[in-house]
Amino acid sequence: MRHLLNPLDFSVEELDELMDVALDISKNPQKYAECCKGKKIATLFYEPSTRTRLSFEAAMLNLGGSVLGFSSAASSSAAKGESVADTIRMVSCYADICAMRHPKEGAPLVASLNSSIPVINAGDGGHQHPTQTLTDLMTIRSLKGRLNNITIGLCGDLKFGRTVHSLINALVRYDNVRFILISPNELRVPDYIRQEVLTGNHAEFKEVTQLEDVMPELDILYMTRVQRERFFNEEEYIRMKDCYILDAKKMELAKPDMLVLHPLPRVNEISVEVDKDPRAVYFKQVQFGVYIRMALILKLLEIQV
Ligand code: CP
Repeated sequence: MRHLLNPLDFSVEELDELMDVALDISKNPQKYAECCKGKKIATLFYEPSTRTRLSFEAAMLNLGGSVLGFSSAASSSAAKGESVADTIRMVSCYADICAMRHPKEGAPLVASLNSSIPVINAGDGGHQHPTQTLTDLMTIRSLKGRLNNITIGLCGDLKFGRTVHSLINALVRYDNVRFILISPNELRVPDYIRQEVLTGNHAEFKEVTQLEDVMPELDILYMTRVQRERFFNEEEYIRMKDCYILDAKKMELAKPDMLVLHPLPRVNEISVEVDKDPRAVYFKQVQFGVYIRMALILKLLEIQV
């Protein structure tokens, strides 16, 4: 039995296969409409979510399966003090696969160690968000045509942004990917990403504070929000929250075929005027997220089509 806790749990070849299946799903949804008949996914969300939880549920429903779960710790027995380990033992009796989001880093790992069903990390604290990364890779591969030979700018809260940590982990495995890390000094990527992931994999990268200066170099701009829920101090959050705002004027500096991605939710960091720019693909990204999660469920349940 396999779990997905980290994007590195799948090889590059397996990720390619997964994206191929997701592409086929997008073209032939009817072929997959009953693949998971009789199967259930449990969505165990101890933290707020719109996209990840609903896209897992949509993915399972699209495959002919069913969904159960909870959308906040307060509405589960976690509020009475039940541990993640005990919870997953129960859920293993109710469902065939589960997706877990938790504010504590490593909680889905703890679940996987006590589970008899596949566990998918749907975001753990400021650590990893591997299915967002699958979504991001699928979006880039589908719309750019490649995952190698790109310069990607990652902008915003690179310290707490788990989608950024997972995406860097995944992209260092492709050839000639150049990283430009755009953040205030206070929100730079954690040391382990800089040293073990980027330097350790001989990736080319630079850290800058000004978005405008690097816009012309980028093939992909990955915007992120400042993660209010991870700040210890509200005043610090307020000081940082509008550090970058992508607007139509800044988009004029970019290549004509640069793509703007964002894991969403957006707060202020992308002005709504950018939405109508054809290079803004963050809403298309959401649709790719359903197809790739469908492919992931099939893979982890070992369902052949
Ligand atoms: N991208 C993402 O994880 O969104 P949600 O927090 O709404 O699930």
